[in-house]
Amino acid sequence: MRVAAIVPAAGAGKRLKSKTPKAFVNVQGKPLLIRALRALGRGGKFHEFVVVVAKNEVASATRLLRRFRVRKFKVVPGGATRAESVWKGLQAVSKGSDWILVHDAARPLVSKDLVVGLLKAAKLTGGAICGMPIQATVKRVNLKSRIIEKTEDRAELYLAQTPQVFRKDLLIARYQKLGRSAFTGTDEAALFDGTSVNVRMVLGDSRNIKVTVPEDLALLEYLLLRGKR
Ligand code: C5P
Repeated sequence: MRVAAIVPAAGAGKRLKSKTPKAFVNVQGKPLLIRALRALGRGGKFHEFVVVVAKNEVASATRLLRRFRVRKFKVVPGGATRAESVWKGLQAVSKGSDWILVHDAARPLVSKDLVVGLLKAAKLTGGAICGMPIQATVKRVNLKSRIIEKTEDRAELYLAQTPQVFRKDLLIARYQKLGRSAFTGTDEAALFDGTSVNVRMVLGDSRNIKVTVPEDLALLEYLLLRGKR
């Protein structure tokens, strides 16, 4: 398995209410992006890291990755949505890689075991993602009338996380088939909904949080401190 890791980091992080783009926010001395890359690196031997950032951040991200001695990386400009950013990253992946692992820069605590488990699971069917079972009760609501239509069976529902792993040829084929409509999905696995490719769900990790709102930074600090003990 020759795996390229694509790390989308081109989001503005509006919900984080920070002036710095989310991936570059420092937490205990290291930017989220660096933490995510190092955590991934502990889980596998990657052929290359393709980091996707906003166009005006390409030069500063390149300097940052050099400063933190990240090896075998490329930095490319992203798109208007996460899915478009991943597509741009895909185009920068070298011919030598045959598998793609996509991981959010905003998830700095991905574990080695999760990466290893995902790569193993993906090998079986061509694709695997991780996710968490839902603890809450989930209602489907008519957004106009605010009337509840149905209570979903939560036993069948998972909250998707990253990493998400796919055979490169399968992923490219789905982007090509769907065209611009591929850019609206909020994860890569959605590209395979209703297709003959069976994307397997691997049990995720509650520590694998996505930093989205300011409270998540406080939680991350807590998890980092606890992890050191
Ligand atoms: O916005 P959200 O937190 O869901 O973004 C998930 C990941 O996708 C983040 O790491 C973010 O930087 C990235 N992203 C991107 N390009 C966009 C929007 C988000 O690479 N246009």
